[in-house]
Amino acid sequence: SSRKYQILKQQGLIPSKQLPSALIIGVKKGGTRALLEFLRLHPAIRAAGSEVHFFDHHYMKGFHWYRHRMPPTLSSQITMEKTPSYFVTSEVPRRVQRMNPAMKLILVVRDPVTRAISDYTQVKSKRANMPKFEDLAFLNGSKIVDTSWVPLRIGVYARHLERWLQYFSLSQFVFVSGERLIVDPVAEITRVQDFLGLKRVICEKHFYFNATKGFPCLLKSEERPTPHCLGKNKGRSHPYIDPVAIQRLRDFYRPFNQRFYQLTGMDFGWL
Ligand code: A3P
Repeated sequence: SSRKYQILKQQGLIPSKQLPSALIIGVKKGGTRALLEFLRLHPAIRAAGSEVHFFDHHYMKGFHWYRHRMPPTLSSQITMEKTPSYFVTSEVPRRVQRMNPAMKLILVVRDPVTRAISDYTQVKSKRANMPKFEDLAFLNGSKIVDTSWVPLRIGVYARHLERWLQYFSLSQFVFVSGERLIVDPVAEITRVQDFLGLKRVICEKHFYFNATKGFPCLLKSEERPTPHCLGKNKGRSHPYIDPVAIQRLRDFYRPFNQRFYQLTGMDFGWL
């Protein structure tokens, strides 16, 4: 009867849509898709497939709209979503805190210089006549880093994290190394499973290294029973960039990286 159904539903025994209790907040080009696809191997994780952009673009639509973007879950399951722009959008931390001050926050970071090149490569792949990276990264022909260029601004992780830390404690974050996610996905996924309070279900047996792709790929997933890698738009080859330009960007990021290591208590090993 419908009364029995209501009771089962209240007990979380019939799947129903819930607001997320964990978010992958970024960083763009850090490996956010890989991380989400890996986490989805866990039976206790249910995630929205595409980026929802609730806390930045669709906030005015309200929590009801947001909840309906989520997959149905049992009470034993965790709802999550990933939208990488959350990390760098100034209003987002306050909005997330208002919805759920206990939110679990997952951040994948990658060397900000490679991240900027990856970001640039993505834009270039969609646009003809893209100026050279070196011409966008420095103020007209000078050696001065153009910090207003978004691909560079995103990489100042310490600044963005400091903003989040005004609303959330460090213990609500798990920081994933984008570099390690490629060379040792299980190590990173294990830390995330522990952080979420889940059994260590995702392990070595789920992955194989695909030498052609140059990345770890999955043997099977929620969607597919056969081996597969992420799409062609993940793991693109990057254009050649003048090493002098790269060195200048490394020098620019060094103090911010140091600050980020200090804040997180982790050394990501970027040069
Ligand atoms: P590149 O395309 O520059 O190599 P995001 O999903 O956040 O946009 O991140 C994209 C990046 O994820 C890719 O950047 C790639 O380096 C990285 N990545 C990490 N693990 C991967 C995997 N297993 N397969 C493909 N790309 C992966």
